[in-house]
Amino acid sequence: MPKLIPDNILDDVLSRIDIVELISGYIPLKRTGRNFKACCPFHHEKTPSFVVSPDRQIYNCFGCGESGNAFKFLMRYEQMDFPEAVEVLARKAGVVLPLNNSADNKTQGVITQLFKINEMAAQFYSDNLQSRDAAGAKDYLLSRGISWDVIKELKIGFAFDKWDSLINFLRAKGVDLNLMDEAGLIVAKDGGGYYDRFRNRIVFPILDVKGRVLGFGCRVLDNSLPKYINSPETLVYTKGKNLYGLNLAREAIRENDFVSVVEGYMDFILPFQSGFKNIVASQGTALTAEQVRLLKRYTNNVIMIYDSDSAGELATLRSLDIFIEEEVNVRVVSLPKGFDPDLFVRKAGVEGLRKEANAACDLFDYKLKVLSSRYDIKDAHNKVKVCALMLETINKIKNAILRAEYLKKLSLKLDVKEEALLEESKRSKSPRVIPPAQVIPKKKPLNISPTEKLLMSLMLEENSLISRMRDNLSPNDFKDERICRIVSVMFNLVEQGREVKPQILMNHLEEDMSSLICEQEFIPEGLSIEHKERMADDCLKRIKDERLKVIRQRLHEEIKVAQNAGDEARLNSLIEEFHSLIKKR
Ligand code: CTP
Ligand code: MN
Repeated sequence: MPKLIPDNILDDVLSRIDIVELISGYIPLKRTGRNFKACCPFHHEKTPSFVVSPDRQIYNCFGCGESGNAFKFLMRYEQMDFPEAVEVLARKAGVVLPLNNSADNKTQGVITQLFKINEMAAQFYSDNLQSRDAAGAKDYLLSRGISWDVIKELKIGFAFDKWDSLINFLRAKGVDLNLMDEAGLIVAKDGGGYYDRFRNRIVFPILDVKGRVLGFGCRVLDNSLPKYINSPETLVYTKGKNLYGLNLAREAIRENDFVSVVEGYMDFILPFQSGFKNIVASQGTALTAEQVRLLKRYTNNVIMIYDSDSAGELATLRSLDIFIEEEVNVRVVSLPKGFDPDLFVRKAGVEGLRKEANAACDLFDYKLKVLSSRYDIKDAHNKVKVCALMLETINKIKNAILRAEYLKKLSLKLDVKEEALLEESKRSKSPRVIPPAQVIPKKKPLNISPTEKLLMSLMLEENSLISRMRDNLSPNDFKDERICRIVSVMFNLVEQGREVKPQILMNHLEEDMSSLICEQEFIPEGLSIEHKERMADDCLKRIKDERLKVIRQRLHEEIKVAQNAGDEARLNSLIEEFHSLIKKR
Protein backbone atom coordinates (compact mmCIF):
# COMPACT_ATOMS: atom_id res chain seq x y z
CA MET A 1 0.00 0.00 0.00
CA PRO A 2 1.35 3.42 -0.84
CA LYS A 3 2.35 5.32 2.26
CA LEU A 4 1.60 8.81 0.97
CA ILE A 5 -1.28 9.32 3.37
CA PRO A 6 -0.56 8.80 7.07
CA ASP A 7 -2.06 5.65 8.58
CA ASN A 8 -4.00 7.45 11.28
CA ILE A 9 -5.83 9.47 8.66
CA LEU A 10 -6.67 6.34 6.67
CA ASP A 11 -7.98 4.73 9.83
CA ASP A 12 -9.97 7.85 10.57
CA VAL A 13 -11.61 7.77 7.15
CA LEU A 14 -12.49 4.11 7.55
CA SER A 15 -13.98 4.52 10.98
CA ARG A 16 -16.39 7.15 9.67
CA ILE A 17 -17.56 5.19 6.65
CA ASP A 18 -20.21 2.52 6.87
CA ILE A 19 -19.38 -0.18 4.39
CA VAL A 20 -22.99 -1.38 4.24
CA GLU A 21 -24.16 2.06 3.23
CA LEU A 22 -21.32 2.37 0.71
CA ILE A 23 -21.91 -0.95 -1.01
CA SER A 24 -25.69 -0.64 -0.98
CA GLY A 25 -25.19 2.44 -3.12
CA TYR A 26 -23.92 0.11 -5.83
CA ILE A 27 -25.77 -3.17 -5.41
CA PRO A 28 -28.91 -4.14 -3.53
CA LEU A 29 -28.09 -5.75 -0.18
CA LYS A 30 -30.39 -8.05 1.76
CA ARG A 31 -30.18 -8.45 5.50
CA THR A 32 -29.54 -11.99 6.77
CA GLY A 33 -28.98 -12.13 10.53
CA ARG A 34 -25.99 -10.02 11.47
CA ASN A 35 -24.84 -9.62 7.90
CA PHE A 36 -25.98 -8.47 4.49
CA LYS A 37 -25.96 -10.55 1.34
CA ALA A 38 -25.98 -9.98 -2.41
CA CYS A 39 -25.00 -11.61 -5.67
CA CYS A 40 -21.30 -10.97 -6.07
CA PRO A 41 -20.52 -8.02 -8.35
CA PHE A 42 -17.11 -9.49 -9.13
CA HIS A 43 -18.13 -12.81 -10.61
CA HIS A 44 -21.26 -14.27 -12.19
CA GLU A 45 -23.53 -16.15 -9.84
CA LYS A 46 -27.19 -16.88 -9.34
CA THR A 47 -27.26 -17.53 -5.60
CA PRO A 48 -25.78 -14.81 -3.42
CA SER A 49 -22.47 -15.59 -1.75
CA PHE A 50 -21.27 -12.02 -1.35
CA VAL A 51 -21.44 -11.06 2.33
CA VAL A 52 -21.04 -7.63 3.89
CA SER A 53 -20.39 -7.51 7.60
CA PRO A 54 -21.38 -4.34 9.46
CA ASP A 55 -19.53 -5.55 12.59
CA ARG A 56 -16.26 -6.08 10.87
CA GLN A 57 -16.79 -3.45 8.16
CA ILE A 58 -15.58 -5.77 5.42
CA TYR A 59 -17.00 -7.70 2.52
CA ASN A 60 -16.18 -11.21 1.44
CA CYS A 61 -17.38 -13.38 -1.42
CA PHE A 62 -17.42 -17.07 -0.60
CA GLY A 63 -17.74 -17.83 -4.29
CA CYS A 64 -14.74 -16.07 -5.79
CA GLY A 65 -12.76 -15.14 -2.70
CA GLU A 66 -12.81 -11.41 -3.40
CA SER A 67 -12.72 -9.53 -0.12
CA GLY A 68 -11.65 -6.34 1.54
CA ASN A 69 -12.60 -3.10 3.23
CA ALA A 70 -14.30 0.01 1.88
CA PHE A 71 -11.17 1.20 0.03
CA LYS A 72 -10.74 -2.13 -1.63
CA PHE A 73 -14.37 -2.23 -2.71
CA LEU A 74 -14.08 1.08 -4.52
CA MET A 75 -10.78 0.05 -6.07
CA ARG A 76 -12.31 -3.12 -7.45
CA TYR A 77 -15.75 -1.86 -8.33
CA GLU A 78 -14.79 1.52 -9.74
CA GLN A 79 -11.36 0.42 -10.96
CA MET A 80 -9.84 3.21 -8.91
CA ASP A 81 -6.33 3.17 -7.63
CA PHE A 82 -5.71 3.46 -3.93
CA PRO A 83 -5.23 7.23 -3.66
CA GLU A 84 -8.36 7.82 -5.70
CA ALA A 85 -10.42 5.57 -3.44
CA VAL A 86 -9.06 7.33 -0.37
CA GLU A 87 -9.91 10.70 -1.85
CA VAL A 88 -13.49 9.73 -2.60
CA LEU A 89 -14.11 8.22 0.82
CA ALA A 90 -12.36 11.04 2.66
CA ARG A 91 -14.68 13.51 0.99
CA LYS A 92 -17.67 11.38 1.95
CA ALA A 93 -16.45 11.11 5.53
CA GLY A 94 -15.62 14.79 5.81
CA VAL A 95 -11.99 14.06 6.57
CA VAL A 96 -9.52 16.57 5.20
CA LEU A 97 -6.53 14.94 3.58
CA PRO A 98 -3.16 16.59 4.13
CA LEU A 99 -2.38 18.98 1.29
CA ASN A 100 0.16 17.45 -0.96
CA ASN A 101 2.19 19.17 -3.58
CA SER A 102 4.92 16.57 -3.25
CA ALA A 103 6.59 15.08 -6.28
CA ASP A 104 4.96 11.78 -5.38
CA ASN A 105 1.53 13.22 -5.80
CA LYS A 106 2.36 14.82 -9.08
CA THR A 107 3.64 11.49 -10.30
CA GLN A 108 0.48 9.86 -9.07
CA GLY A 109 -1.52 12.32 -11.14
CA VAL A 110 0.50 11.60 -14.28
CA ILE A 111 0.12 7.88 -13.70
CA THR A 112 -3.64 8.23 -13.57
CA GLN A 113 -3.55 10.19 -16.79
CA LEU A 114 -1.32 7.68 -18.53
CA PHE A 115 -3.76 4.90 -17.74
CA LYS A 116 -6.55 7.00 -19.21
CA ILE A 117 -4.63 7.72 -22.41
CA ASN A 118 -3.62 4.09 -22.79
CA GLU A 119 -7.24 3.11 -22.39
CA MET A 120 -8.25 5.57 -25.10
CA ALA A 121 -5.53 4.30 -27.41
CA ALA A 122 -6.54 0.68 -26.81
CA GLN A 123 -10.12 1.57 -27.68
CA PHE A 124 -8.94 3.38 -30.81
CA TYR A 125 -6.86 0.42 -32.00
CA SER A 126 -9.67 -1.96 -31.23
CA ASP A 127 -12.19 0.13 -33.19
CA ASN A 128 -9.71 0.28 -36.09
CA LEU A 129 -9.81 -3.46 -36.40
CA GLN A 130 -13.51 -3.29 -37.24
CA SER A 131 -12.90 -0.88 -40.11
CA ARG A 132 -12.70 -1.87 -43.76
CA ASP A 133 -9.10 -0.66 -43.94
CA ALA A 134 -8.12 -3.35 -41.45
CA ALA A 135 -9.26 -6.29 -43.60
CA GLY A 136 -5.67 -7.51 -43.92
CA ALA A 137 -5.18 -7.52 -40.15
CA LYS A 138 -8.48 -9.28 -39.56
CA ASP A 139 -7.65 -11.91 -42.15
CA TYR A 140 -4.27 -12.42 -40.55
CA LEU A 141 -5.74 -13.00 -37.09
CA LEU A 142 -8.38 -15.34 -38.42
CA SER A 143 -5.81 -17.23 -40.48
CA ARG A 144 -3.99 -17.91 -37.22
CA GLY A 145 -7.14 -19.43 -35.83
CA ILE A 146 -8.01 -16.63 -33.43
CA SER A 147 -11.73 -16.24 -32.88
CA TRP A 148 -13.56 -12.95 -32.90
CA ASP A 149 -14.68 -13.52 -29.31
CA VAL A 150 -11.13 -13.79 -28.08
CA ILE A 151 -10.07 -10.77 -30.13
CA LYS A 152 -12.70 -8.84 -28.20
CA GLU A 153 -11.84 -10.39 -24.85
CA LEU A 154 -8.17 -9.52 -25.24
CA LYS A 155 -9.04 -6.14 -26.78
CA ILE A 156 -6.75 -6.90 -29.69
CA GLY A 157 -6.55 -4.04 -32.16
CA PHE A 158 -4.84 -2.67 -35.22
CA ALA A 159 -2.61 0.35 -35.83
CA PHE A 160 -3.09 1.79 -39.32
CA ASP A 161 -0.22 2.18 -41.72
CA LYS A 162 -0.11 5.94 -41.13
CA TRP A 163 2.29 8.26 -39.33
CA ASP A 164 -0.24 10.26 -37.39
CA SER A 165 -3.55 8.48 -37.02
CA LEU A 166 -3.26 7.99 -33.25
CA ILE A 167 -1.81 11.45 -32.76
CA ASN A 168 -4.77 12.98 -34.57
CA PHE A 169 -7.26 10.88 -32.67
CA LEU A 170 -5.84 11.75 -29.26
CA ARG A 171 -5.32 15.38 -30.11
CA ALA A 172 -8.98 15.68 -31.06
CA LYS A 173 -9.76 14.37 -27.59
CA GLY A 174 -7.66 17.11 -26.08
CA VAL A 175 -4.68 14.98 -25.06
CA ASP A 176 -1.39 16.79 -24.78
CA LEU A 177 1.51 15.68 -27.01
CA ASN A 178 3.80 15.52 -24.01
CA LEU A 179 1.51 13.04 -22.35
CA MET A 180 1.30 10.90 -25.50
CA ASP A 181 5.07 10.90 -25.45
CA GLU A 182 5.17 10.04 -21.77
CA ALA A 183 2.83 7.13 -22.53
CA GLY A 184 5.28 5.88 -25.15
CA LEU A 185 2.67 6.04 -27.88
CA ILE A 186 4.54 8.45 -30.12
CA VAL A 187 8.15 9.05 -31.09
CA ALA A 188 9.91 12.42 -31.38
CA LYS A 189 11.22 13.30 -34.84
CA ASP A 190 14.75 14.59 -35.21
CA GLY A 191 13.66 17.86 -36.75
CA GLY A 192 10.85 18.42 -34.23
CA GLY A 193 7.34 17.02 -34.10
CA TYR A 194 6.20 13.46 -33.46
CA TYR A 195 4.93 10.35 -35.25
CA ASP A 196 2.92 7.28 -34.16
CA ARG A 197 5.14 4.59 -32.66
CA PHE A 198 2.97 1.68 -33.80
CA ARG A 199 2.12 1.48 -37.49
CA ASN A 200 0.64 -1.28 -39.61
CA ARG A 201 0.72 -3.73 -36.73
CA ILE A 202 -1.62 -5.92 -34.75
CA VAL A 203 -1.89 -4.39 -31.28
CA PHE A 204 -1.95 -6.48 -28.09
CA PRO A 205 -2.79 -4.31 -25.09
CA ILE A 206 -0.98 -5.45 -21.93
CA LEU A 207 -3.28 -5.19 -18.91
CA ASP A 208 -2.60 -5.50 -15.23
CA VAL A 209 -4.82 -7.51 -12.88
CA LYS A 210 -6.98 -4.47 -12.29
CA GLY A 211 -7.68 -4.30 -16.00
CA ARG A 212 -5.65 -1.13 -16.53
CA VAL A 213 -3.74 -0.81 -19.80
CA LEU A 214 -0.03 -0.70 -19.02
CA GLY A 215 1.32 -0.70 -22.55
CA PHE A 216 1.24 -2.45 -25.90
CA GLY A 217 3.00 -5.19 -27.85
CA CYS A 218 2.55 -4.89 -31.61
CA ARG A 219 3.16 -7.54 -34.26
CA VAL A 220 3.81 -7.17 -37.97
CA LEU A 221 1.46 -8.91 -40.41
CA ASP A 222 4.20 -10.73 -42.27
CA ASN A 223 7.72 -11.99 -41.71
CA SER A 224 9.42 -8.63 -41.59
CA LEU A 225 11.56 -7.55 -38.67
CA PRO A 226 11.35 -6.59 -35.92
CA LYS A 227 8.47 -8.99 -35.36
CA TYR A 228 7.27 -7.04 -32.33
CA ILE A 229 7.55 -3.44 -31.29
CA ASN A 230 6.67 -2.85 -27.66
CA SER A 231 5.93 0.14 -25.48
CA PRO A 232 9.10 1.66 -24.08
CA GLU A 233 9.50 1.89 -20.31
CA THR A 234 7.03 4.42 -18.94
CA LEU A 235 5.75 5.37 -15.52
CA VAL A 236 3.22 2.56 -15.81
CA TYR A 237 5.00 -0.03 -17.97
CA THR A 238 8.18 -1.84 -17.08
CA LYS A 239 9.39 -4.79 -19.07
CA GLY A 240 9.56 -7.93 -16.99
CA LYS A 241 7.15 -6.73 -14.33
CA ASN A 242 3.91 -7.93 -15.81
CA LEU A 243 2.46 -11.08 -17.29
CA TYR A 244 0.33 -11.06 -20.39
CA GLY A 245 -3.12 -12.52 -19.73
CA LEU A 246 -2.89 -12.66 -15.93
CA ASN A 247 -5.99 -10.48 -15.61
CA LEU A 248 -8.02 -13.09 -17.48
CA ALA A 249 -6.29 -16.16 -16.13
CA ARG A 250 -6.14 -15.53 -12.42
CA GLU A 251 -9.42 -17.17 -11.44
CA ALA A 252 -8.53 -20.28 -13.42
CA ILE A 253 -5.05 -20.29 -11.89
CA ARG A 254 -6.54 -20.28 -8.41
CA GLU A 255 -9.05 -22.96 -9.30
CA ASN A 256 -6.51 -25.31 -10.85
CA ASP A 257 -3.78 -24.35 -8.38
CA PHE A 258 -1.22 -24.20 -11.13
CA VAL A 259 -0.27 -21.90 -13.96
CA SER A 260 1.36 -22.56 -17.30
CA VAL A 261 3.87 -19.98 -18.41
CA VAL A 262 4.51 -19.54 -22.13
CA GLU A 263 6.69 -17.08 -24.02
CA GLY A 264 4.59 -15.28 -26.59
CA TYR A 265 1.27 -13.55 -27.07
CA MET A 266 0.41 -16.11 -29.72
CA ASP A 267 1.34 -18.96 -27.41
CA PHE A 268 -1.08 -17.58 -24.86
CA ILE A 269 -3.97 -17.05 -27.23
CA LEU A 270 -4.65 -20.44 -28.79
CA PRO A 271 -4.52 -22.48 -25.59
CA PHE A 272 -6.58 -19.83 -23.77
CA GLN A 273 -9.16 -19.77 -26.53
CA SER A 274 -9.42 -23.57 -26.43
CA GLY A 275 -10.19 -23.61 -22.72
CA PHE A 276 -6.70 -23.94 -21.22
CA LYS A 277 -7.28 -20.82 -19.18
CA ASN A 278 -4.70 -21.00 -16.42
CA ILE A 279 -1.97 -19.61 -18.63
CA VAL A 280 0.12 -16.45 -18.89
CA ALA A 281 2.82 -15.22 -21.27
CA SER A 282 6.13 -13.82 -20.08
CA GLN A 283 6.56 -11.90 -23.36
CA GLY A 284 9.88 -13.31 -24.37
CA THR A 285 13.03 -14.23 -22.46
CA ALA A 286 13.49 -15.63 -18.97
CA LEU A 287 11.07 -14.89 -16.17
CA THR A 288 12.00 -12.24 -13.63
CA ALA A 289 11.64 -12.49 -9.87
CA GLU A 290 8.88 -9.86 -10.05
CA GLN A 291 6.89 -11.98 -12.45
CA VAL A 292 7.29 -15.04 -10.28
CA ARG A 293 6.10 -13.08 -7.25
CA LEU A 294 3.05 -11.95 -9.18
CA LEU A 295 2.21 -15.59 -9.88
CA LYS A 296 2.79 -16.58 -6.27
CA ARG A 297 -0.30 -14.63 -5.27
CA TYR A 298 -2.39 -17.19 -7.05
CA THR A 299 -0.51 -20.47 -6.90
CA ASN A 300 2.72 -22.09 -5.86
CA ASN A 301 2.87 -24.41 -8.84
CA VAL A 302 4.20 -23.45 -12.23
CA ILE A 303 4.61 -25.35 -15.45
CA MET A 304 6.95 -23.79 -17.98
CA ILE A 305 6.06 -24.39 -21.62
CA TYR A 306 8.61 -22.49 -23.62
CA ASP A 307 9.50 -22.84 -27.29
CA SER A 308 11.53 -25.94 -28.03
CA ASP A 309 14.53 -24.12 -29.41
CA SER A 310 17.81 -23.29 -27.77
CA ALA A 311 16.63 -19.79 -26.84
CA GLY A 312 13.62 -21.28 -25.11
CA GLU A 313 15.81 -23.83 -23.37
CA LEU A 314 18.14 -21.15 -22.10
CA ALA A 315 15.29 -18.97 -20.91
CA THR A 316 13.78 -21.96 -19.11
CA LEU A 317 17.04 -22.81 -17.37
CA ARG A 318 17.49 -19.22 -16.23
CA SER A 319 13.96 -19.11 -14.89
CA LEU A 320 14.42 -22.32 -12.89
CA ASP A 321 16.80 -20.72 -10.43
CA ILE A 322 14.39 -17.88 -9.82
CA PHE A 323 11.60 -20.32 -9.05
CA ILE A 324 13.83 -22.09 -6.58
CA GLU A 325 14.79 -18.85 -4.89
CA GLU A 326 11.15 -17.91 -4.61
CA GLU A 327 10.30 -21.40 -3.35
CA VAL A 328 7.81 -22.07 -6.12
CA ASN A 329 7.38 -25.61 -7.40
CA VAL A 330 8.23 -25.73 -11.05
CA ARG A 331 7.97 -28.38 -13.74
CA VAL A 332 8.89 -28.16 -17.38
CA VAL A 333 7.29 -29.31 -20.61
CA SER A 334 9.63 -29.91 -23.52
CA LEU A 335 7.56 -29.74 -26.67
CA PRO A 336 8.74 -31.69 -29.73
CA LYS A 337 11.45 -29.93 -31.75
CA GLY A 338 10.23 -26.96 -33.72
CA PHE A 339 7.02 -26.49 -31.74
CA ASP A 340 5.74 -23.70 -29.57
CA PRO A 341 2.48 -23.91 -27.58
CA ASP A 342 0.55 -22.14 -30.34
CA LEU A 343 1.62 -24.62 -33.03
CA PHE A 344 1.31 -27.54 -30.68
CA VAL A 345 -2.31 -26.80 -29.81
CA ARG A 346 -3.10 -26.50 -33.48
CA LYS A 347 -1.56 -29.90 -34.12
CA ALA A 348 -2.42 -31.90 -31.01
CA GLY A 349 -5.38 -29.92 -29.71
CA VAL A 350 -5.75 -28.53 -26.24
CA GLU A 351 -6.00 -32.08 -24.91
CA GLY A 352 -2.53 -32.73 -26.29
CA LEU A 353 -1.19 -29.74 -24.40
CA ARG A 354 -2.95 -30.84 -21.20
CA LYS A 355 -1.34 -34.24 -21.53
CA GLU A 356 2.08 -32.66 -21.89
CA ALA A 357 1.45 -30.44 -18.87
CA ASN A 358 0.44 -33.43 -16.76
CA ALA A 359 3.59 -35.26 -17.75
CA ALA A 360 5.84 -32.24 -17.18
CA CYS A 361 9.28 -33.01 -15.94
CA ASP A 362 10.80 -32.18 -12.56
CA LEU A 363 13.18 -29.22 -12.75
CA PHE A 364 16.12 -31.37 -11.74
CA ASP A 365 15.45 -33.94 -14.45
CA TYR A 366 14.92 -31.20 -16.98
CA LYS A 367 18.18 -29.45 -16.29
CA LEU A 368 20.10 -32.68 -16.26
CA LYS A 369 18.50 -33.72 -19.53
CA VAL A 370 19.46 -30.47 -21.23
CA LEU A 371 23.00 -30.61 -19.89
CA SER A 372 23.45 -34.23 -20.85
CA SER A 373 22.44 -33.41 -24.39
CA ARG A 374 25.04 -30.64 -24.51
CA TYR A 375 27.94 -32.34 -22.79
CA ASP A 376 29.17 -35.89 -23.30
CA ILE A 377 29.51 -36.94 -19.68
CA LYS A 378 31.64 -39.94 -20.48
CA ASP A 379 34.43 -37.41 -20.56
CA ALA A 380 35.58 -36.68 -16.98
CA HIS A 381 35.99 -32.96 -17.57
CA ASN A 382 32.50 -32.69 -18.94
CA LYS A 383 31.20 -34.58 -15.97
CA VAL A 384 32.86 -32.07 -13.66
CA LYS A 385 31.24 -29.25 -15.59
CA VAL A 386 27.78 -30.81 -15.50
CA CYS A 387 28.12 -31.50 -11.76
CA ALA A 388 29.10 -27.91 -11.12
CA LEU A 389 26.13 -26.60 -13.08
CA MET A 390 23.73 -28.96 -11.34
CA LEU A 391 25.15 -28.08 -7.93
CA GLU A 392 24.63 -24.41 -8.67
CA THR A 393 20.92 -25.08 -8.86
CA ILE A 394 20.78 -27.60 -6.04
CA ASN A 395 22.58 -25.26 -3.66
CA LYS A 396 19.87 -22.68 -4.16
CA ILE A 397 17.25 -25.00 -2.70
CA LYS A 398 16.45 -23.75 0.76
CA ASN A 399 14.97 -26.91 2.17
CA ALA A 400 17.74 -29.12 3.50
CA ILE A 401 15.82 -32.34 3.01
CA LEU A 402 15.03 -31.60 -0.59
CA ARG A 403 18.62 -30.59 -1.20
CA ALA A 404 19.84 -33.89 0.22
CA GLU A 405 17.37 -35.77 -2.00
CA TYR A 406 18.64 -34.06 -5.12
CA LEU A 407 22.26 -34.69 -4.22
CA LYS A 408 21.46 -38.36 -3.83
CA LYS A 409 19.76 -38.36 -7.20
CA LEU A 410 22.63 -36.58 -8.89
CA SER A 411 25.09 -39.03 -7.44
CA LEU A 412 23.09 -41.91 -8.87
CA LYS A 413 22.53 -40.39 -12.29
CA LEU A 414 26.09 -39.31 -12.88
CA ASP A 415 27.68 -42.19 -11.02
CA VAL A 416 29.65 -39.91 -8.72
CA LYS A 417 30.04 -40.68 -5.01
CA GLU A 418 27.73 -38.59 -2.84
CA GLU A 419 30.63 -37.59 -0.59
CA ALA A 420 32.48 -36.15 -3.57
CA LEU A 421 29.43 -34.14 -4.56
CA LEU A 422 29.01 -32.87 -1.02
CA GLU A 423 32.61 -31.84 -0.86
CA GLU A 424 32.39 -30.09 -4.20
CA SER A 425 29.12 -28.50 -3.19
CA LYS A 426 30.65 -27.07 -0.01
CA ARG A 427 33.64 -25.79 -1.94
CA SER A 428 31.66 -24.09 -4.69
CA LYS A 429 28.96 -22.73 -2.47
CA SER A 430 28.81 -19.01 -2.20
CA PRO A 431 27.60 -18.10 1.28
CA ARG A 432 23.94 -18.99 1.32
CA VAL A 433 21.51 -16.28 2.21
CA ILE A 434 19.94 -18.31 4.97
CA PRO A 435 22.43 -20.20 7.11
CA PRO A 436 21.26 -23.76 7.76
CA ALA A 437 20.65 -23.30 11.47
CA GLN A 438 17.91 -20.80 10.69
CA VAL A 439 16.30 -22.55 7.78
CA ILE A 440 12.68 -21.70 8.10
CA PRO A 441 10.57 -24.78 7.58
CA LYS A 442 8.78 -24.44 4.28
CA LYS A 443 5.58 -22.57 4.92
CA LYS A 444 2.67 -23.80 2.92
CA PRO A 445 0.03 -21.26 2.05
CA LEU A 446 -2.60 -23.93 1.64
CA ASN A 447 -3.95 -26.00 4.51
CA ILE A 448 -3.49 -23.33 7.12
CA SER A 449 -3.67 -24.84 10.57
CA PRO A 450 -7.12 -24.22 12.07
CA THR A 451 -5.44 -23.47 15.38
CA GLU A 452 -3.45 -20.61 13.91
CA LYS A 453 -6.49 -19.25 12.18
CA LEU A 454 -8.62 -19.53 15.29
CA LEU A 455 -6.09 -17.65 17.39
CA MET A 456 -5.85 -14.92 14.78
CA SER A 457 -9.63 -14.59 14.71
CA LEU A 458 -9.83 -14.50 18.50
CA MET A 459 -7.27 -11.71 18.69
CA LEU A 460 -9.10 -9.76 16.02
CA GLU A 461 -12.35 -10.02 17.91
CA GLU A 462 -10.93 -9.39 21.35
CA ASN A 463 -8.04 -6.94 21.19
CA SER A 464 -7.07 -7.53 24.81
CA LEU A 465 -5.93 -10.97 23.77
CA ILE A 466 -3.29 -9.48 21.50
CA SER A 467 -1.19 -8.13 24.36
CA ARG A 468 -1.72 -11.36 26.26
CA MET A 469 -0.36 -13.37 23.34
CA ARG A 470 2.38 -10.92 22.55
CA ASP A 471 4.06 -11.70 25.84
CA ASN A 472 4.20 -15.40 25.07
CA LEU A 473 4.49 -15.69 21.36
CA SER A 474 6.48 -14.35 18.44
CA PRO A 475 4.91 -13.95 15.00
CA ASN A 476 7.48 -16.44 13.79
CA ASP A 477 5.87 -19.15 15.88
CA PHE A 478 3.10 -19.28 13.29
CA LYS A 479 3.81 -21.75 10.55
CA ASP A 480 1.81 -19.97 7.92
CA GLU A 481 3.72 -17.12 6.38
CA ARG A 482 0.69 -14.93 5.91
CA ILE A 483 -0.65 -15.39 9.42
CA CYS A 484 2.84 -14.68 10.67
CA ARG A 485 2.76 -11.37 8.80
CA ILE A 486 -0.75 -10.49 9.93
CA VAL A 487 0.09 -11.20 13.56
CA SER A 488 3.21 -9.10 13.43
CA VAL A 489 1.17 -6.17 12.08
CA MET A 490 -1.35 -6.71 14.90
CA PHE A 491 1.43 -6.62 17.47
CA ASN A 492 2.80 -3.43 15.96
CA LEU A 493 -0.56 -1.70 15.99
CA VAL A 494 -1.16 -2.63 19.61
CA GLU A 495 2.30 -1.38 20.49
CA GLN A 496 1.36 1.98 19.01
CA GLY A 497 -1.76 1.98 21.15
CA ARG A 498 -4.02 1.61 18.13
CA GLU A 499 -7.20 -0.34 17.75
CA VAL A 500 -7.00 -3.52 15.69
CA LYS A 501 -10.04 -4.02 13.51
CA PRO A 502 -10.24 -6.05 10.32
CA GLN A 503 -10.88 -3.08 8.07
CA ILE A 504 -7.96 -1.20 9.59
CA LEU A 505 -5.63 -4.15 9.60
CA MET A 506 -6.14 -4.48 5.86
CA ASN A 507 -4.65 -1.07 5.27
CA HIS A 508 -1.37 -2.32 6.60
CA LEU A 509 -1.24 -5.53 4.63
CA GLU A 510 -0.51 -6.68 1.12
CA GLU A 511 -3.56 -7.32 -0.97
CA ASP A 512 -3.47 -11.11 -1.02
CA MET A 513 -3.68 -11.28 2.77
CA SER A 514 -6.97 -9.54 3.18
CA SER A 515 -8.83 -12.63 2.05
CA LEU A 516 -7.29 -14.51 4.92
CA ILE A 517 -8.56 -11.98 7.41
CA CYS A 518 -12.01 -12.39 5.97
CA GLU A 519 -11.92 -16.15 6.20
CA GLN A 520 -12.00 -15.98 9.95
CA GLU A 521 -12.70 -19.05 11.97
CA PHE A 522 -16.21 -19.16 13.31
CA ILE A 523 -16.40 -17.99 16.92
CA PRO A 524 -19.75 -18.56 18.61
CA GLU A 525 -21.51 -15.44 19.76
CA GLY A 526 -21.82 -14.44 23.38
CA LEU A 527 -18.72 -16.14 24.74
CA SER A 528 -17.39 -14.58 27.92
CA ILE A 529 -13.97 -12.99 27.85
CA GLU A 530 -12.68 -15.66 30.21
CA HIS A 531 -13.86 -18.31 27.82
CA LYS A 532 -12.08 -16.61 24.94
CA GLU A 533 -8.93 -16.31 27.00
CA ARG A 534 -9.01 -20.01 27.70
CA MET A 535 -9.48 -20.72 24.00
CA ALA A 536 -6.57 -18.45 23.11
CA ASP A 537 -4.29 -20.00 25.73
CA ASP A 538 -5.16 -23.38 24.38
CA CYS A 539 -4.23 -22.33 20.84
CA LEU A 540 -1.03 -20.81 22.16
CA LYS A 541 0.00 -24.06 23.74
CA ARG A 542 -0.73 -26.05 20.60
CA ILE A 543 1.19 -23.63 18.40
CA LYS A 544 4.19 -23.74 20.73
CA ASP A 545 4.16 -27.53 20.76
CA GLU A 546 3.91 -27.67 17.01
CA ARG A 547 6.76 -25.22 16.66
CA LEU A 548 9.00 -27.30 18.93
CA LYS A 549 8.16 -30.40 16.97
CA VAL A 550 9.17 -28.74 13.71
CA ILE A 551 12.44 -27.47 15.13
CA ARG A 552 13.22 -30.88 16.54
CA GLN A 553 12.56 -32.54 13.24
CA ARG A 554 14.69 -30.04 11.41
CA LEU A 555 17.56 -30.56 13.85
CA HIS A 556 17.20 -34.27 13.36
CA GLU A 557 17.59 -33.92 9.62
CA GLU A 558 20.52 -31.60 9.92
CA ILE A 559 22.26 -33.88 12.38
CA LYS A 560 21.91 -36.65 9.83
CA VAL A 561 23.37 -34.48 7.08
CA ALA A 562 26.27 -33.36 9.28
CA GLN A 563 26.89 -36.97 10.23
CA ASN A 564 27.01 -38.04 6.59
CA ALA A 565 29.31 -35.20 5.76
CA GLY A 566 31.55 -36.01 8.73
CA ASP A 567 31.34 -32.41 9.89
CA GLU A 568 32.28 -32.87 13.56
CA ALA A 569 32.09 -29.26 14.67
CA ARG A 570 28.67 -28.72 13.19
CA LEU A 571 27.47 -32.04 14.57
CA ASN A 572 28.47 -31.06 18.08
CA SER A 573 26.79 -27.71 17.95
CA LEU A 574 23.63 -29.29 16.56
CA ILE A 575 23.55 -31.90 19.30
CA GLU A 576 23.99 -29.20 21.90
CA GLU A 577 21.11 -27.28 20.39
CA PHE A 578 19.03 -30.42 20.51
CA HIS A 579 19.71 -30.97 24.22
CA SER A 580 18.89 -27.43 25.19
CA LEU A 581 15.66 -27.77 23.27
CA ILE A 582 14.66 -30.86 25.20
CA LYS A 583 15.48 -29.12 28.46
CA LYS A 584 13.26 -26.22 27.50
CA ARG A 585 10.30 -28.54 27.19
N1 CTP B 1 9.17 -10.50 -28.48
C1 CTP B 1 9.43 -9.14 -28.44
N2 CTP B 1 10.12 -8.54 -29.45
C2 CTP B 1 10.56 -9.26 -30.51
C3 CTP B 1 10.33 -10.64 -30.55
C4 CTP B 1 9.62 -11.23 -29.52
O1 CTP B 1 9.03 -8.47 -27.51
N3 CTP B 1 11.21 -8.64 -31.48
C5 CTP B 1 8.40 -11.11 -27.37
C6 CTP B 1 6.92 -11.02 -27.65
O2 CTP B 1 6.26 -10.82 -26.42
C7 CTP B 1 6.61 -12.38 -28.21
C8 CTP B 1 7.55 -13.26 -27.41
O3 CTP B 1 8.70 -12.48 -27.26
O4 CTP B 1 5.25 -12.73 -28.02
C9 CTP B 1 7.87 -14.57 -28.05
O5 CTP B 1 8.45 -14.38 -29.32
P1 CTP B 1 8.07 -15.30 -30.53
O6 CTP B 1 8.00 -16.73 -30.11
O7 CTP B 1 8.98 -14.93 -31.64
O8 CTP B 1 6.63 -14.71 -30.90
P2 CTP B 1 5.16 -15.30 -30.91
O9 CTP B 1 4.34 -14.43 -30.03
O10 CTP B 1 5.14 -16.73 -30.64
O11 CTP B 1 4.71 -14.96 -32.38
P3 CTP B 1 4.49 -15.86 -33.66
O12 CTP B 1 3.93 -17.18 -33.22
O13 CTP B 1 3.52 -15.05 -34.41
O14 CTP B 1 5.79 -15.97 -34.33
MN1 MN C 1 5.08 -18.43 -31.91
